[in-house]
Amino acid sequence: MKKINVITIDGPSASGKGALSRRVAHNFGFDILDSGLLYRLFGHFINLKFDSEEIVNKIKNEITFSLKNEIINVFFQDINITNNLRTEKIAKVASKMSSKSAVRESLFNIQRNFYIETGLVADGRDMGTVVFKDAKLKIFLTASPEIRAKRRYLELQNLGQEVNMLDLIADIKERDLKDSSRKLSPLIPDDEAHIIDSSDMSLEEVFSLTENLVKKEFI
Ligand code: C5P
Repeated sequence: MKKINVITIDGPSASGKGALSRRVAHNFGFDILDSGLLYRLFGHFINLKFDSEEIVNKIKNEITFSLKNEIINVFFQDINITNNLRTEKIAKVASKMSSKSAVRESLFNIQRNFYIETGLVADGRDMGTVVFKDAKLKIFLTASPEIRAKRRYLELQNLGQEVNMLDLIADIKERDLKDSSRKLSPLIPDDEAHIIDSSDMSLEEVFSLTENLVKKEFI
């Protein structure tokens, strides 16, 4: 299989893959795909009662992403809707929608179209196993549910959202179980993936490990 210039970073919720992906993209000048945001957009538009075809058209034609200072913003018709997408409520709808084959298929090409020869970092659950099976470098980033809940807690608190730690741990465990036990594109590491457990590691340490892998494969 011809390998393409993609680094896939898969893993469960709040494992730190978003922060790692943005850091890698920023440092190596790669583009970025946060595929979770596409599923969250699907959930957001389902809540607004649009049908699947309308949603796909909206994502293709009316949504834009911007990466600035390692933060991804999502714009719908020039309105920044990022904070509407980054809630646990939307995450749950996204997770529910993501088990439907029609939804996954409709997002497949949209995700592949993010590819750019100068390099792409693709963050999600099935980037290395399905969407970018032909990626040059695959990483599977994980951490214990408690550590991940703590990270998500701080992230949501920073966004000004009220959250309960115990509810968060329960939500994360439930979502992971659903994501890893579903039939379609389950959350599992690809055979070629480098597995990193970041429970006891800082972002800097995870980045430094990843940086060495990137240099080996790309430079
Ligand atoms: O990564 P994030 O938490 O934003 O993803 C939200 C949900 O979207 C996940 O819980 C998962 O169910 C779904 N998802 C997926 N495949 C991806 C990315 C996200 O099924 N590649």
